[in-house]
Amino acid sequence: MPDEDKHPLPTGYQLSALDPVYRETPWVPLDRLRSEDPVHHDQQLGRYFLTRGQEVTELIKNRDLNADPRKANEGSFSRTLYGANSKELSILMLDDPEHKRQRTLVQKAFNKRSVDALLPRIEEIANRLADDIAAQDGEFDFVATFGSPLPTTVMAELLGINPDDRKDFRRWSLGCMLALNPFRTPEQTALYEESTTVLAAYLAREVDIRRSKPSDDLITRLAQAEEEGDSLTTQDIVLLIRLLLIAGNSTTTDMLTAGVAQLLKNPDQLAKFRARPDLHANAMDEILRVEPPVSQVLRSAHEDMQVHDKQIKRRHHSHVAIRRAF
Ligand code: HEM
Repeated sequence: MPDEDKHPLPTGYQLSALDPVYRETPWVPLDRLRSEDPVHHDQQLGRYFLTRGQEVTELIKNRDLNADPRKANEGSFSRTLYGANSKELSILMLDDPEHKRQRTLVQKAFNKRSVDALLPRIEEIANRLADDIAAQDGEFDFVATFGSPLPTTVMAELLGINPDDRKDFRRWSLGCMLALNPFRTPEQTALYEESTTVLAAYLAREVDIRRSKPSDDLITRLAQAEEEGDSLTTQDIVLLIRLLLIAGNSTTTDMLTAGVAQLLKNPDQLAKFRARPDLHANAMDEILRVEPPVSQVLRSAHEDMQVHDKQIKRRHHSHVAIRRAF
C-alpha cells in the first residue's frame, strides 16, 4: 500500500484553524504538502492549496488572476467566505479597473511619505507604552499593554479620530476584525454586524465633516484626493478605512506578538539581536517568513492554467499559503 494511502495527505478542515494540529503547529501539515503535493486539490473545501515558494511566487506575481471572490466558482472557499457580502468589497478584493481607480486615488493620500512623516509620533507612542510597562512590577500581558494599543492608537491618530471617541472607535475596530473569523459564534456575529454598521455611520459623518471643514488627517486627504476629475465617494472611503482597521491593526499586533514569542523561544537569536539592533530589518523578514500575520492570499483563475502538476480550471479558487513557503 502506498504511503499516501496509509497516511492520507492533510486536506479540507485539516488545513484550517478548526483543526487542533493546524492551529498549534501549522508547519507540520504545510511541510508535508510542500514535499508531497505542493499544488494540492482540496476537494472538501473546493480549492487548490499551494505551499511551495516557486508556485506561491508564480501566483502572487500573476496580475491576471482575480482577487474578487465574486469571480470564483460557486461553492468555492473564497466565494462562500466573502462573496455573500458582495456589495461591500474593499480594495483588497477588487480587480482592475476598479482596483486601479481606487489605488491611484488612495496613493495620493496614503503613501510611504505620509507614513514616514508619522514615524516620530509612532516612536513616541511606542516609548510611552514601553515606559508604562517598565513602571509595572513583574509579569505583564504583552498584547494588552503593547501589541494591541500601539496600532489602534496610531490608526486613530492617522485618521484624526476625536480623542473623546477613541474608546468607542477602538471597540468598533476590534468588532470589525471578527470579519476574519468565519467560525464566529452568533454573539460574535451580532457584535460584528453592530460594529460595522455603527462604524460605517460614524465614518460617513466624519467624511462629511472633513469635506466642509478640512483637517490635517488621512480622512481629509482621502476626501480631497482627485485624479482626472475622479474622486473617492464617501462609501469608497468608509470601506477603505474599515479595511485599514482590519488589515492594519490585527496584522501589526500579530507580528509584534509573534516576534516577541519567537525571540523568547530562541534565546541565541535574542542575544544576537540585542547586540546588533541594526539587524532589525533581517529580524522582521524572518519573523514574517516564519509566523506571518497574513498566512495566505486568495486568488481565482481567469482562464484554465497549468500550475506544476495540476490543471487549474477557470474560476477555480487557489489558497496561496505564504507561511514558510520560502
Ligand atoms: C505586518 C503587517 C502587515 C502584513 C503582514 C500585511 C500583509 C498584507 C498582504 C499579504 C496583502 C496582500 C493581500 C492580497 O494580495 O490578497 C496586504 C494588502 C493590503 N494591506 Fe497589508 N499587511 C500588513 C499591514 C498593513 C497595514 C499597517 C495597513 C494599513 C494601515 C495595511 C493595508 C493594506 C491594504 C490597504 C491592502 C490592499 C492593497 C491593494 O489591494 O492594493 N496592511 N497586506
